[in-house]
Amino acid sequence: MNSIGNEDFSGLRSAVAHGRSWLIAGLIVAMCACLGGEIRSARAANPAPAKTTWDGVYTDDEAARGKAQYNTSCSSCHMEDLSGSGQALPLAGDAFADIWEGQTMADLLGLIQGTMPQDKPGSLEPDAALDVISYILQSNKFPAGKEELKNDPDALKNILITKKAPAKTQ
Ligand code: HEC
Repeated sequence: MNSIGNEDFSGLRSAVAHGRSWLIAGLIVAMCACLGGEIRSARAANPAPAKTTWDGVYTDDEAARGKAQYNTSCSSCHMEDLSGSGQALPLAGDAFADIWEGQTMADLLGLIQGTMPQDKPGSLEPDAALDVISYILQSNKFPAGKEELKNDPDALKNILITKKAPAKTQ
């Protein structure tokens, strides 16, 4: 009698354990579905930037100021012609374009302000960093325009860095 009772009990336990693993699997599936939905809605809430680096987003004056700042703060590692040296990657040409493709001006400003110059991170005021960015844009053959790059986070998030000029004519 006793042994049968025990067997019944262990059978029940394994049934419960089995049921629980299905429950856990179900929860994981539900969580993934939910997260996927969140990611999709976050994407929908962030429309593609309205401008690109081909829309004349800096001025020649700004780039000239940026060149002077660049030669003070950056050229010792990234070289005067922006070709880079060793670990200090090129800031012009294909290498730069490939790293920054699809990112925004806000991303570039964030990186420069947060980590560069590597020997003195955070030492550039936002306006000085934006001047340097203008010079980098000019060196990458993006066209100048009539308005300076301004320290306005929303506007900077709205400028996409892209290697190819968009097909639309302006
Ligand atoms: C002391 C050397 C040094 C100085 C000065 C310096 N950098 Fe750098 N920079 C590096 C190194 C090394 C890397 C790569 C490693 C890393 O990302 O931390 C880098 C990476 C970068 C990157 C990311 C890589 C890329 O190709 O996009 C950018 C942008 C950049 N630097 C911009 C600047 C700017 C702008 C200045 C001047 C304000 C500057 N750096 C000054 C050493 C330097």
